[in-house]
Amino acid sequence: MKVLLLGSGGREHALAWKIAQSAKVEKLFIAPGNAGTQNVGENVDIKADDFEALKNFVVENGVDMVIVGPEDPLVKGVYDDFKNDERTKNVPVIGPSKAGAVLEGSKDFAKQFMKRHNIPTAKYETFDGTTVEEGLKFLETLKAPYVLKADGLCAGKGVLILPTLEEAKKEFKEMLGGMFGNASARVVIEEFLSGIECSVFALTDGKNYKILPEAKDYKRIGEHDTGLNTGGMGSVSPVPFATKEWMQKVEDRIIRPTVEGLAEENIEYKGFIFFGLINVEGEPMVIEYNCRMGDPETETVMLRLKSDIVDLFEGVAEGNLDKRDIEFDERAAVCVMLVSGGYPQTYAKGYEITGLDKIEDSVVFHAGTKMQNGKVVTNGGRVIAVSSYGKDKSEALQNSFTQAQKIEFTDKYFRRDIGQDL
Ligand code: AMP
Ligand code: GLY
Repeated sequence: MKVLLLGSGGREHALAWKIAQSAKVEKLFIAPGNAGTQNVGENVDIKADDFEALKNFVVENGVDMVIVGPEDPLVKGVYDDFKNDERTKNVPVIGPSKAGAVLEGSKDFAKQFMKRHNIPTAKYETFDGTTVEEGLKFLETLKAPYVLKADGLCAGKGVLILPTLEEAKKEFKEMLGGMFGNASARVVIEEFLSGIECSVFALTDGKNYKILPEAKDYKRIGEHDTGLNTGGMGSVSPVPFATKEWMQKVEDRIIRPTVEGLAEENIEYKGFIFFGLINVEGEPMVIEYNCRMGDPETETVMLRLKSDIVDLFEGVAEGNLDKRDIEFDERAAVCVMLVSGGYPQTYAKGYEITGLDKIEDSVVFHAGTKMQNGKVVTNGGRVIAVSSYGKDKSEALQNSFTQAQKIEFTDKYFRRDIGQDL
């Protein structure tokens, strides 16, 4: 079959790498892809949210399945757009409908959904420009630190955690005043939860689901979780505290009620659900939902997925995911992200990347790269993910670390402590 994958980051290279291994796939296209995805498929110069151009491409090239990497096209309704077009209505799109993607697109919707289905999450209330006074009073009822969340999508920047009531009140008013534009026209205020985070992923056909290997990502730029937030500096899978018992609680209290809740509310959802969880004294609680896989979690989860991912996608498309097998690799996987010096603030692009041909025993996923005059050059803050197996996470980290040193570009930086806190 012919498969089209949408997106251009490290997550998409990891998905493309896994999809390309399937015996069922005769041709893989990636739109728009990056300098890495062209090694496992054919890049197509169409933006992931240019639905008209994507549909034309699908029709002209006889594409049999579309897989969506990032949230943006999902929140904009790519699933519905394909379904409502006579020409593409029978081409399965792996990803939720626009209504399903609201689980990520609106924090308020996600919180209400969890409340309706008794899914454990932090206590919260939502406010807008007409309820500022009520919001300030609600803040007074909470304990420090204070968590403020813009309702809409803000590229991962819409959550503020503030140490004092005074700062929380000030930032709350600024958020409603347009700090994040329309995305913060409504603000969720929630109780702070203390614990270690863990990302859990499920693939669902709307009725059945399969749980993928869990992972933990590292968001801060500095070692030992210091400094500014980034798009992710690395990941590790498995997560030691996600024991069989803990994962059973996650399935019973969170995953199954979410899939059943979506079905009960007639929300079409055929794709990945990302559960951003926190372990509060042994009990899993939901911090957030995303309607896609995580980045850089995918760069370790794909290493640990033994089964044919396209077989699972077919199960999603045909509604018989319960008939498909899912198997994990027992080894640990660690991903170390090589980033541009200065990231997540200002950094330069266009530096040549060398040493990629010297990598052994690790898998290199490109994030922000592109081809320029026949050379691979840096093209973003997060540049290359180096993912490795090991008998345990220390060995996997050591492998990634050894290989990461062989890849060179000006001002390269990476964290050496991924997974070491667990
Ligand atoms: P979100 O975009 O909702 O994932 O939030 C971004 C980050 O803020 C999360 O990964 C957590 O580290 C943190 N966070 C969000 N909500 C809470 C909460 N209620 N308690 C503690 N930390 C939180
Ligand atoms: N790693 C977190 C995310 O993908 O949103």
